[in-house]
Amino acid sequence: MRNRVVCLLIIVMNSGNRVHFADSFSVSVPATRSVCKSMKPGHDQYKPQASSSSPGNVTTDITQVRGGETVDVTIYARNGEKFKGFYIQARDEKGAPIGTFNENTYVKTHSCGGIKSNAAHHVNSEDKTKVQVSWTAPANYNGRVQILATIVQRFNTYWTGIKANAISVVG
Ligand SMILES: *[C@@H]1O[C@H](CO)[C@@H](O)[C@H](O)[C@H]1NC(C)=O
Repeated sequence: MRNRVVCLLIIVMNSGNRVHFADSFSVSVPATRSVCKSMKPGHDQYKPQASSSSPGNVTTDITQVRGGETVDVTIYARNGEKFKGFYIQARDEKGAPIGTFNENTYVKTHSCGGIKSNAAHHVNSEDKTKVQVSWTAPANYNGRVQILATIVQRFNTYWTGIKANAISVVG
C-alpha cells in the first residue's frame, strides 16, 4: 500500500514538472512570475546556452524616442536558423522592466511586479525566423533603456540576455 502511494506520487510529480516546463513559454499558460527576473523558461534543470552562439538577434527601428512613442523591435533568426519562442523586456538603468508591450497575433504580453504588459512572449511555438514586437516607451522617464530577450530554439535549448541596441528615452 505504502509503495503504491509513493509510486503514484512520483508519477504525478514527474508529469507535473514536464507540463510546467513545456507550458512555461507556450500558448495557454502565461509565463510564470520567476521568469520576470531570470528571463529563463520554466525549469532550472536546463541551463541557458552561451550567448555568443545565439541563433538570433534583436534590433530596433530607432534608438531615440520620446516618452509615449512606440518602437518596433524585431527578433530575427540568424541565416538558416529558426526559433520557437522568446521572452522580452525593456529594462531601465536600474534593471527594472518598463514601458508597455503591445499584443498582436504573434505576441502576448506578461506583467511583472504588478505593472501591466511590461514583458512579452510568443503566442505559439511554431518555428519562426522573425517576429515583430512593438514597445511603447513610458511617459515619465528620461534615460537609457536596454531591450533584453531570451530566445528559445527548442524546449530545453535557449539563450538569455540577448541585447538589442540601447534606446534613449526623452521624457
Ligand atoms: C540580425 O539577423 C538578421 C538575419 O540574419 C540580419 O539580416 C541582420 O543583419 C542581423 N542584425 C544584426 C544587428 O546583427
